[in-house]
Amino acid sequence: MKIRVVAFFILFSISNYLIAQTHRASVSNLRCEYLHNPLGVDSAQPRLSWMLNDAESGAKQVAFELLVSTDSLNIVNGEGDVWDSGKTTSDKILTRYAGEKLRPFTRYFWSVSVWNNRNEKVSSPVASFETGMMGMENWTGSWISDDKDIHEKAAPYFRKEFKLEKKVSHARIYIAAAGLYELSINEEEVGDHVLDPGYTRFDRRNLYVTHDVTKELKNGENALGILLGNGWYNHQSTAVWYFHKAPWRNRPAFCLDLHITYEDGSKEIITSGKDWKTSLSPVVFNSIYTAEHYDARLEQPGWCSPGFDDSKWNGVIYRAAPSQNIVSQMMHPIRHVEKIVPQRMSQLNDTTFVFDLGRNIAGVSAITLAGEEGTIVRLKHGERLYDNGHVDLSNIDVHYRPVDDSDPFQTDIYILNGKGEKTFMPRFNYKGFQYVEVTSNKPINISKESLVAYFMHSDVPESGELATTNPTLNKIWEATNNSYLSNLFAYPTDCPQREKNGWTGDAHIAIETGLYGFDGITVYEKWLADHRDEQQPNGVLPSIIPTDGWGYEWGNGPDWTSTIALIPWNIYLFYGDASLLESCYENIKRYVDHITQISPLGTTTWGLGDWVPVKSKSPVELTSTCYYYADAVILSEAAKLFNKPADANKYSALAAKIKQAFNNKFYYPETGIYASGTQTELSAPLYWGLVPEQEKERVAENLAIRVEADQFHLDVGLLGQKSILNALSENGYAEVAYKIAAQESYPSWGWWIVNGATTLLENWDIHAQNDISMNHIMFGEIGAWLYKGLGGIYPDPNNPGFKNVILKPSFISTLEGVDISHQSLYGEIKSAWKHKGKSVVYSVIIPANSTASLYIPDGYEIQKSSDAVTGKKINLLLGNDGSCKLQAGSYLIELFEKK
Ligand code: BGC
Repeated sequence: MKIRVVAFFILFSISNYLIAQTHRASVSNLRCEYLHNPLGVDSAQPRLSWMLNDAESGAKQVAFELLVSTDSLNIVNGEGDVWDSGKTTSDKILTRYAGEKLRPFTRYFWSVSVWNNRNEKVSSPVASFETGMMGMENWTGSWISDDKDIHEKAAPYFRKEFKLEKKVSHARIYIAAAGLYELSINEEEVGDHVLDPGYTRFDRRNLYVTHDVTKELKNGENALGILLGNGWYNHQSTAVWYFHKAPWRNRPAFCLDLHITYEDGSKEIITSGKDWKTSLSPVVFNSIYTAEHYDARLEQPGWCSPGFDDSKWNGVIYRAAPSQNIVSQMMHPIRHVEKIVPQRMSQLNDTTFVFDLGRNIAGVSAITLAGEEGTIVRLKHGERLYDNGHVDLSNIDVHYRPVDDSDPFQTDIYILNGKGEKTFMPRFNYKGFQYVEVTSNKPINISKESLVAYFMHSDVPESGELATTNPTLNKIWEATNNSYLSNLFAYPTDCPQREKNGWTGDAHIAIETGLYGFDGITVYEKWLADHRDEQQPNGVLPSIIPTDGWGYEWGNGPDWTSTIALIPWNIYLFYGDASLLESCYENIKRYVDHITQISPLGTTTWGLGDWVPVKSKSPVELTSTCYYYADAVILSEAAKLFNKPADANKYSALAAKIKQAFNNKFYYPETGIYASGTQTELSAPLYWGLVPEQEKERVAENLAIRVEADQFHLDVGLLGQKSILNALSENGYAEVAYKIAAQESYPSWGWWIVNGATTLLENWDIHAQNDISMNHIMFGEIGAWLYKGLGGIYPDPNNPGFKNVILKPSFISTLEGVDISHQSLYGEIKSAWKHKGKSVVYSVIIPANSTASLYIPDGYEIQKSSDAVTGKKINLLLGNDGSCKLQAGSYLIELFEKK
């Protein structure tokens, strides 16, 4: 039995007992801007949030008091000399700092006390946040580079020595780079981030990163070292999106300020400037898109140690800042999150070895080798093998347009220096792969242990857990998560190999999958800033974001670029925080107004349509109008939220007009069918809310009939897969949805899994000739549907952020059970059920300070319900809306099937 199935049984049986052995309340998870104790906070009024842990049933927060001080002792003593919010009657767990003006480069300590509904006061531990630059005027250093041009292939080193005479209390480095940087002090690499800073539209916004380097500095002589990579800034590889012609393109540069505070309270700033020196490094080529080449013979041992002889190094040159908008990178960084040891290695001949990781990932490999000086080792990374065992790149190199053979795709080149065993791992590139083919120009000694790989992605915390009794379904969930993470690199991408592009459509398709499973708000807030940077004055957005300019011409209709509305809206639903929606409000408006301008009749033909379908094609006008409608609805809801009644009226009238025009055009009332009645044509209007209330039942029934006629197999593309399962589940056909989701023959998600996929593919047909990346997230809605369609966990738009949880579980007859949970801002929400003869045992956890509306599935009746901790009977009462109102707590509910 597979791990997750076993996990289901263990989780299910313990969850009914384990729930909170202790009733002592506590406050935890103190975060500033959704990060724990962050450095480099630029916001003048940062968001502060916390969580009340209180297992008493019905536990609530009735008031809170926030204290902020620059002295942690004050906080311990209950004094908030910078801000004392006072005891504030509120159940909110997120608030904006509203104390005295924050100063840059300052560490603030804070805590929160919460009063629960038993009038107990519970105080949190002390947390901190530290401000950063808080404005361009606070930079001291100069932007510097070497004097090479964009065609220089080798990555530059920069170094500077300095002497510290006094004892350091604390030290921070603020570093902004156009391109990528690796920072070292006294030969030690600083921090565990990789591929910093995140990719932005470099000529509009640059990110700086803050590092605590207190421990790295020492008394006496010190050396600072920087290695700069090209990233997306100086794209030398040539492919169909023309990143090599990006308007911002230049030789990488950086700006650095090192702020040192001594124990005696005095301060010093060491900066980037003319006193730095530069030299080319052994990284003789680096491309974020293709690979990295390293010549170990060019290593300069000790280049970042004090006392190194840099007399042959060159001076640096001043450079203009890439933009006038340099802001803090407030994001979970990209890391080498997971180390993966190959499962197999095969030797094809003396000089060719193929490693198989056993799973598909985004990341890098690291090889440890000894060999003769000048030995050239090539590491080709791919997702599949030819029959002869060699790595096959033909499914992923299709958009690459190399001008010669010096930059092979996904192939690192490592030249040995003959000085013993060394490890090579690229710094400024990542790839999508399962296999690595290692070849060398001379025989080398290699074993299975010579290579490891690292799964890389933005290191967002997990927020979802799932185990069901269906092993294939569990693997689909895992593959979905793998693809989601493989496509999260400070912006969401379509695939980690062929493109690495911020395709908008793929990202909004995956937004719920992402937010049920991961705490990704920081990445999305950054990416929506990229949207605002890219938007034309008339509202138009490019299909890939960030972009060098490609994508304003193609693929950027509402079915893709509605990210501008859909992502902030979903962040609002999942976090109960309207900040992103508010900062995008005018952008959404311009966007919707533009569609209206080009679509006066109410429907729109702008878009790509149901991308990579199985067989049936659905009209672009049908799917694009669904997105246009969704945007208008979101905009009108946002207008209400932000108290803009005129806009609210205007855009709800627009939504009504779109809906009317849509139904006039596509709906056949005689038959209850949209257009020609394909799965996408029926499910998209249902899911996006365009079907008139009184027609829903017929349309849903027709959809179910259509699916049955398709033998419960998918016949959808990217847009249809977003709606199909939800449209069925939400309209009384959960069993039909499950049959599709659990399908194991073509075309289905399960078909991929039974054929060995560990990530989601780009094409339903595993033998297709094109669109065949093996790590796309665009068919990833199933990940979210598992939480919704089986666990029934939905955010409540009227009480967002899971302040109230909508629970609509479906007790699928052919599935023994599920155990599903989501970590919300309030804490863990759990929905787990298991068939027991004719009954179902349903176990629920609702975190403190939150409530739920539980909708019992049709055909079931509650037999008994009790508090899962005390065993005490609880009477669940039905409210007017047909739901049982649950307070915070843990419940064990037994239901029986009525007939
Ligand atoms: C990408 C997709 C993307 C599409 C747009 C493809 O090349 O990989 O995932 O959404 O283009 O049509």
